[in-house]
Amino acid sequence: MSQDAYRLISPSGNEIELPLHEGTTGPGVIDIGKLYREQGVFTYDPGFVATGSCSSDITFIDGEKGVLMYRGYPVEQLAEHSNFLEVAYLLQHGDLPTADELADYENTIRYHTMLNEGMLSFFKGFRYDAHPMAMLSAVVGSMSAYYHDSTNVHDPEHRDIFAHRIVAKLPTVAAAAYKKNIGQPFMYPQNHLNYSENLLHMLFAVPAEDYEIDPIAAEALDLLFILHADHEQNCSTSVVRMAGSSAANPYSAIAAGISALWGPAHGGANEAVLQMLEEIGDASQIPKYVAKAKDRDDPFRLMGFGHRVYKNFDPRATIIREMCHKVLARLGRQDTPLFDLALELEQVALKDEFFIEKNLYPNVDFYSGIIYRALGIPTSMFTVMFALGRSVGWTAHWREMIADPKGKISRPRQLYTGPAQRDYVQVDAR
Ligand code: ACO
Repeated sequence: MSQDAYRLISPSGNEIELPLHEGTTGPGVIDIGKLYREQGVFTYDPGFVATGSCSSDITFIDGEKGVLMYRGYPVEQLAEHSNFLEVAYLLQHGDLPTADELADYENTIRYHTMLNEGMLSFFKGFRYDAHPMAMLSAVVGSMSAYYHDSTNVHDPEHRDIFAHRIVAKLPTVAAAAYKKNIGQPFMYPQNHLNYSENLLHMLFAVPAEDYEIDPIAAEALDLLFILHADHEQNCSTSVVRMAGSSAANPYSAIAAGISALWGPAHGGANEAVLQMLEEIGDASQIPKYVAKAKDRDDPFRLMGFGHRVYKNFDPRATIIREMCHKVLARLGRQDTPLFDLALELEQVALKDEFFIEKNLYPNVDFYSGIIYRALGIPTSMFTVMFALGRSVGWTAHWREMIADPKGKISRPRQLYTGPAQRDYVQVDAR
């Protein structure tokens, strides 16, 4: 981090010198740490539109150019040549693994996939129609009860074990949530299967029959997990960092991240896209819905469009769009009309002045739901799939945050707009 200065003039005409830090690539940041101490003012940036909350070595995004890199590697290269667990190792450890390191890491994940039986019994308490994201968050939160004694956040080995447990066990929790919804017995993990195959097995196998894993389905899931693995300081990752900054139990921090991801403005958008496409129904209705999205008095937005950071295109959407073609061609045509409708909607919106002017492009979630649907994954499980991929980013960021010797508890300030001081009035005098 190189250092230079940034100069501001205060209302009273004083020159204020603030350090300017440059990263490896991308915009630098003005360090405002001393502003309140020296000037008595806070900065104001609701939604963190222009505020860096930390420094990080993990992921870089250039929203103008549509660039996404994990530890310096473009996501396109990783999507083409790597696999999810190798990417998980890269994000967690900073470098691509050697063959031995990768084999060790894969083994560790494979052999930590089972849940304590007590955890499985929690599912009995949920209603049959509980949303799987609610179950995922609750059961991951319960891990803080199972592993509280072995989770010393200041011990690097404990931090490692925590990260392995989250990555390895989340698919088992996710599949159990699905089985709960459909009333089928839980399927135990099988350690000879790779990450995505194991997930498909736990989701779709039943004890009474053999289940054959479709390699295209496993490949598609693996790709989606790579593309969702991390996205720097997005809402859910920032929640994980913030909750973890108090040195709270990290499983609770991940549960908080899962809850944040569920919102339709974030990971919940993949579910919302499918619901929107179904509501639109056919191409003749597209102009009506595009007009609704443009109407400032109508809360409707085109789900799967727009992004806080990408203002050109979302590189993940481009990759997923290709995978959509492959999966639909391989797994049957029943979802093709929905995909065709999505393509048509994309074209209409991309040519529309409103979307052009506001730089609104399809994001990763515009297409992911169509793939999940074609794989037989129900809509309510879409955001759960996103959470499995993002669990890698959450744990990588939590580790980076907790190991930072300069780390502080996250504690933003505010612009107070409530009443100024006033005196208490007895109830009979109000
Ligand atoms: N449809 C219609 N108008 C939109 C859309 C949309 N999808 N997205 C943004 N706009 C408009 C806003 O109304 C706003 O208009 P204004 O300037 O007249 O007020 C302008 O574009 C800027 O949008 P903001 O909401 O201010 O941008 P912000 O960066 O805060 O929000 C967000 C980004 C939440 C992703 C937004 O684009 C959105 O709601 N998209 C739909 C939901 C979605 O797809 N979320 C997934 C994001 S990707 C992810 O989390 C994995």
